[in-house]
Amino acid sequence: METDEAYQRKERDSLVAIVVLACLALTSLFVAFSYYCYIRNKVSKRHRINKKFNCEKKGDCQNQQEVTDNNALQIFTFKQLHSATGGFSKSNVVGHGGFGLVYRGVLNDGRKVAIKFMDNAGKQGKMNSRWRLFVELLSRLRSPYLLALLGYCSDSSHKLLVYEFMANGGLQEHLYPNNRSGSVPLRLDWETRMRIALEAAKGLEYLHEQVSPPVIHRDFKSSNILLDRNFHAKVSDFGLAKVGSDKAGGHVSTRVLGTQGYVAPEYALTGHLTTKSDVYSYGIVLLELLTGRVPVDMKRATGEGVLVSWALPQLGDRDKVMDIMDPTLEGQYTTKEVVQVAAIAAMCVQAEADYRPLMADVVQSLVPLIRSRRSAAKLSGCSSSFSLARSPDSPAGSQ
Ligand SMILES: Nc1ncnc2c1ncn2[C@@H]1O[C@H](COP(=O)(O)OP(=O)(O)O)[C@@H](O)[C@H]1O
Ligand SMILES: [Mg+2]
Repeated sequence: METDEAYQRKERDSLVAIVVLACLALTSLFVAFSYYCYIRNKVSKRHRINKKFNCEKKGDCQNQQEVTDNNALQIFTFKQLHSATGGFSKSNVVGHGGFGLVYRGVLNDGRKVAIKFMDNAGKQGKMNSRWRLFVELLSRLRSPYLLALLGYCSDSSHKLLVYEFMANGGLQEHLYPNNRSGSVPLRLDWETRMRIALEAAKGLEYLHEQVSPPVIHRDFKSSNILLDRNFHAKVSDFGLAKVGSDKAGGHVSTRVLGTQGYVAPEYALTGHLTTKSDVYSYGIVLLELLTGRVPVDMKRATGEGVLVSWALPQLGDRDKVMDIMDPTLEGQYTTKEVVQVAAIAAMCVQAEADYRPLMADVVQSLVPLIRSRRSAAKLSGCSSSFSLARSPDSPAGSQ
């Protein structure tokens, strides 16, 4: 009897041992399999990246689509872009900026594009690594308020960026009568200027607050606000200043990038750059929209050459602020509107970076202004689209 019990106990113990061992074996198998999947995933990811950059190096990627984080950037050959621009003909030049010439082009599929031919590109190793980071970054950024990068060409001696084409070019061409093309464009009316201010603010807000880590534009200015055929605005050239040549000036660590008249004082003095430096530049653009003046014009009377120094003391004064307004806007705005926009501009261009608002605050302040304009236009049966017609019921000084 006793031996039977002992035998049964032994049998039970062996069964438990077998079950435990089986469980352990299964767990080890599962862990090994997970590790195998993890390694496989890593290797194939690295393989994809290597393939992409080898292809770029050789410059032989025929119209190849590479997918980065769900966003497709087209890789063009130099030959393709050469033929899209009629051999980079002079007649297709639409602008000349800090990085080189910009060409109008038509792709094989009929799409109209703007092609930026980067100066000093392709020869420096540093440039290549910055270029890679830049293209990776741009492929991640998508917003209706940012100019879309469609693709690029990168071989050993050329670097070109292919953007969507914006029919009305840069904002500055519409603010100042002496534009490059020689013809005088229509001056933008108040309502359109305010809409552009809001859309540009939304572009910066996206870069600062909806991307992680935040992206600092570094060169926000009126020529980097591009206008489509309906005068809707998109912000361009974000992060591009970093890709430029080191020759731009001084040491890399404190190299001040950006454009004269738009650079925040703390950045100019110490090279310390934050999103608040962009907010300062945005304030300068608001001043351009209000006054129709360029940020720096040394041909003007003494004390008026630097826009911000001239305008700032008048922004907080209800009466004086009306004197700095662009004369072509007369009769299109109310005093209340001007005072509100001037207050936003004044906050943005404060010398103390910490006191400047966030771009989200700027957007919040501009939205009601544009909304009330729209509802007023609806009530009076007017269209809120771009027009030079002056609104008779909202003259300057009426509030
Ligand atoms: N995507 C585009 N569509 C149409 N025109 C453009 C585009 N990009 C640039 N341009 C034109 O080329 C000019 C110079 O652009 P850019 O090289 O970016 O100058 P900047 O260095 O002053 O920013 C712009 O002012 C604009 O007129
Ligand atoms: Mg630009």
